[in-house]
Amino acid sequence: MEQQAKGESWRRGCAFLGVRHAILGGAMSWLSERHLVSAISNAGGFGVLAGGGMPVELLRSEIRATRERTAEPFGVNLITMHPDLAALVQMVVEEGVGHCILAGGLPEQETMSTLKAAGVKVIVFAPSLALGQRLIRRGADALIIEGHEAGGHVGPVSTNVLVQEILYQVDAVPVFVAGGIGSGRMVASLVAMGAAGCQLGTRFVCASECIAHDNFKQAFVRAQSRDAMVTAQFDPILPVIPVRALVNKGTSVFNQKQLQLIEEVKAGSKTRKDALLELEHFWVGALRRAAIDGDVEYGSVMAGQSVGMVKAVQPVAEIIQELVAEIVAD
Ligand SMILES: Cc1cc2nc3c(=O)[nH]c(=O)nc-3n(C[C@H](O)[C@H](O)[C@H](O)COP(=O)(O)O)c2cc1C
Repeated sequence: MEQQAKGESWRRGCAFLGVRHAILGGAMSWLSERHLVSAISNAGGFGVLAGGGMPVELLRSEIRATRERTAEPFGVNLITMHPDLAALVQMVVEEGVGHCILAGGLPEQETMSTLKAAGVKVIVFAPSLALGQRLIRRGADALIIEGHEAGGHVGPVSTNVLVQEILYQVDAVPVFVAGGIGSGRMVASLVAMGAAGCQLGTRFVCASECIAHDNFKQAFVRAQSRDAMVTAQFDPILPVIPVRALVNKGTSVFNQKQLQLIEEVKAGSKTRKDALLELEHFWVGALRRAAIDGDVEYGSVMAGQSVGMVKAVQPVAEIIQELVAEIVAD
C-alpha cells in the first residue's frame, strides 16, 4: 500500500536500506545508542548508531548490543575527523555492518574503498553537486543532503535549495533528504520529487526509547521552530562550523570560548587546527551536559527547526506510524 503510494524512488530507498519505511533516524551523539536505534529499526525505519568520538571497542560493544535488540538492518555513523578512523573502519568491517554513514567532512578514497571492498554500503553527505558527484565517482552508494534547518552541526544551504541543486540532478545513486523534516506530508513531497527517503533527527529526540534526560525532552516539547538558532562565526581566522541549538546560557559560553580561541590563534599560542578540535570537544561535552545530565541552561540543546513540530514524548513506533500514515494519505 505504502510502496504503491510512493512509487519508484521510495521503493529504491527501502530496497537499498533493507527496510519497510525509508526513514532514517539520523545519528545523534550520546542519544543514538542501542535503545533508540533498535527501536527505530524494529518499527520498520532505519536506525543509525552515532560513532561520534567513541573509542573502537565501545562502539563495537554498542553494535553488538543493538544486534541483541533487533534483527532488522541499522547503520553506523562515523566522523571522518576521528583520530582512530582507520581502526573504526576495520572494526565496522569485522562486525559485518551493512551500511556505514560517513559524516564530518569529505571521506578519503581509502576509507570508502576499504568499506566497499568488504561489502559495506557507504552513505555520504553531499554539501554541493560537484562534491556529490566526486563522492559517487569515489564509490558512494548513496547520498544524504542535509539542509541548514537541521539540528547539530549544519551546512550553509537550505534543504529547499539542496533539493533543486542536487536531488534533481542525481540519479546514479539513491539520495536521502534531511534537515527540517517533521511530518509525513513533507516526506511524501520530497519522495515525489525523487528522494529515496528522508533522515530525521530532531523528531526522534522525544521518543520514549531515547535516553535523553527528561529536561532535554521537555525543552524540545516547549520550543518553537524560531528558538533553534545557529551559532555565529566571529572571525574568519577561526572558521567554526555553525551549530543549531536552542538558545540558552550555553550559547554565551560557546561565544566566550570562541573569542578566547580566536585570541590564542592570533597570538600564535594555538594552531587553527588545534583550536577547531578544541571546539569540537567543547560541543561533545556541552551536548552531553544537556542531553544526558539534564543541564539545559548551560549545556547545548542541539535541535533543528523542526523542533516546533515536536509536541510530546511518544514511542518510536507511534512517531513512525504517524509519519507513514501521512505519507500514504498524501
Ligand atoms: C542532538 C543532535 C545531535 C546530532 N549529532 C549528530 C552526530 O553526532 N553526527 C551526525 O552526523 N549528525 C548529527 N546530528 C544530525 C542528525 O543526524 C540529522 O541529520 C539531523 O538531525 C536531521 O535534521 P533535523 O534535526 O531537522 O531532523 C545531530 C542532530 C541532533 C538534533
